[in-house]
Amino acid sequence: MKFSERDQRVTELDEQLHEIEERLIPTGLHVFGRGAESAERADLLRMVISFDRPEHGARALTKLVAEGFGIDSYEELLQPGAPSESRELVDGIVNGAIDTFCARGKDAAAEFLQSRANVKIEMSRPSFELLSWVNEQLDSNQEVESLLRALRGEYIQPGPGADIVQNPFVLPTGRNTHAVNPYSVPSHAAFIRAMVPANALLRRYRDEHGRYPRAVAMILWGLDNIKTQGEGVAQALWLLGVRPVRDALNRATDIEIIPLSELNRPRIDVVMTVSGIFRDLFAPTMALLDKAVRKVAQLDEPPEMNYLRRNVAAKIESEQASFDDAVTRVFSNAPGNYGANVNFMVMQSAWENEATLGDLFVTRKCFAYTRDSRGRTVEGREAPELMNDALSRVEATYQNIDSFEVGITDVDHYFEYLGGISKAVETSAQSRPAIYLSDSLSPQTKIRSLEETVRLETRTKTLNPKWYEGMLKHGFRGVAEIENHVANTFGWSATADAVDPWIYTEISKTFLLDEEMLERLTELNPYSVESLTRRLLEAHERGYWNPDEQILERLREILRASSVTV
Ligand code: BEZ
Ligand code: MG
Repeated sequence: MKFSERDQRVTELDEQLHEIEERLIPTGLHVFGRGAESAERADLLRMVISFDRPEHGARALTKLVAEGFGIDSYEELLQPGAPSESRELVDGIVNGAIDTFCARGKDAAAEFLQSRANVKIEMSRPSFELLSWVNEQLDSNQEVESLLRALRGEYIQPGPGADIVQNPFVLPTGRNTHAVNPYSVPSHAAFIRAMVPANALLRRYRDEHGRYPRAVAMILWGLDNIKTQGEGVAQALWLLGVRPVRDALNRATDIEIIPLSELNRPRIDVVMTVSGIFRDLFAPTMALLDKAVRKVAQLDEPPEMNYLRRNVAAKIESEQASFDDAVTRVFSNAPGNYGANVNFMVMQSAWENEATLGDLFVTRKCFAYTRDSRGRTVEGREAPELMNDALSRVEATYQNIDSFEVGITDVDHYFEYLGGISKAVETSAQSRPAIYLSDSLSPQTKIRSLEETVRLETRTKTLNPKWYEGMLKHGFRGVAEIENHVANTFGWSATADAVDPWIYTEISKTFLLDEEMLERLTELNPYSVESLTRRLLEAHERGYWNPDEQILERLREILRASSVTV
């Protein structure tokens, strides 16, 4: 290996270690009625103030510190190849400031920054004022009190529904969460924010494949679009190359085309699968997305600059399809139905071959929501052939992740949706799509492949002692959470073959082959130990993992010795 190549690899390794180190991981479960503990609180506060909050005149501490050292832009320090010493210096001082804040309050923290990084006290004051407010709210937990009020049928104060980092004003908890006005989605801010991940997604695909994807399948969830005021929706609009237009009542009801000269790239064909919750909450938004697709498909533009128009025209020509059929791109469940159920099938090991999982996704999600050429609303027309056809041209699948609280191995819904649609694409397109997730929460928005995300989640959560020891404090439930993570990881093998075999080996070593750990887990929750063991053996039986025979033999032994076999 040449020196330059070696240096390049070392730099990449350094970046990956940083990425893992900086990841905010929830440790332990939320206990109803109990406030955040101190270590968790410091992490939360640091994360909240790692973003500029112009509405409070508060700056990100990382930026203030960088500027204090004469570095124009903290973001530059995050770029690949930037010297890591400067970033470490800035991050170290920010951590020191947060620790000082937690121990001695806002004035001491502001003085700390002034003495260590030349940040004038009046510059950092608004940031620490905001943190003081957040910190006070974290102390006041009204959850039990509010639940009792609710049970008595009394009034409960409303509060916005969001992620604490997205919007600290979700605090205090224990309020009656309200959502959004669907007509306000996407908000102006969400549309601006969405440009970065949408462009990064296209850039990443082009870097890997030498051209743009002809079509992208996107998953849109309701709660996520509430939290972000429609960032996922806005990303879909960016990919199509349109922006929302507001009417006299400030409702986003129309679409304006971004000219190709401004867009500087082709318009992408976007197939959208929305959750049942999204469908229930965002009917006007679904109409907006459908309108966007119809307008873009009718633009008089060269086919190589408008993939949607090209794909729609090809279908009309080859199959004599109607325009309404060829342009259908917004799908969800049948009215009143929810979920793709791919997760249930995987959890119960009730499938023979992987294609079944993709088929189930389409069966559940092939209901078209649109408005036909005569302006009639179509709410949930069962159209599996149209969905399969739209998916057959898809080259990349994608979901936006906007919360640090829930990642792709925390719940089974990510593989249910993104895994399910990726498998459906693999069947209809006869080729596995590139699968991406965005991390629009971190200050440096990143697009990661599914494989990278699985590795990152595994290292920061499942295999991270800080994470699993946090879980084990919760006893029976904690072991169940560890087992859930392994099952959800397995879900990514089943739907997308996206799990490196070493992951299963390390999981086995950490939780089952270590006698002491096995004993602890069995003591707390023998049921989950048994399921975990079965799942690992299933990973082997289905061909996702082929470890040494010794490991398999030990797993089988653990299963035989299990006292809870049904
Ligand atoms: C949603 O917010 O739409 C959603 C939440 C959980 C699972 C699936 C969808
Ligand atoms: Mg659920």
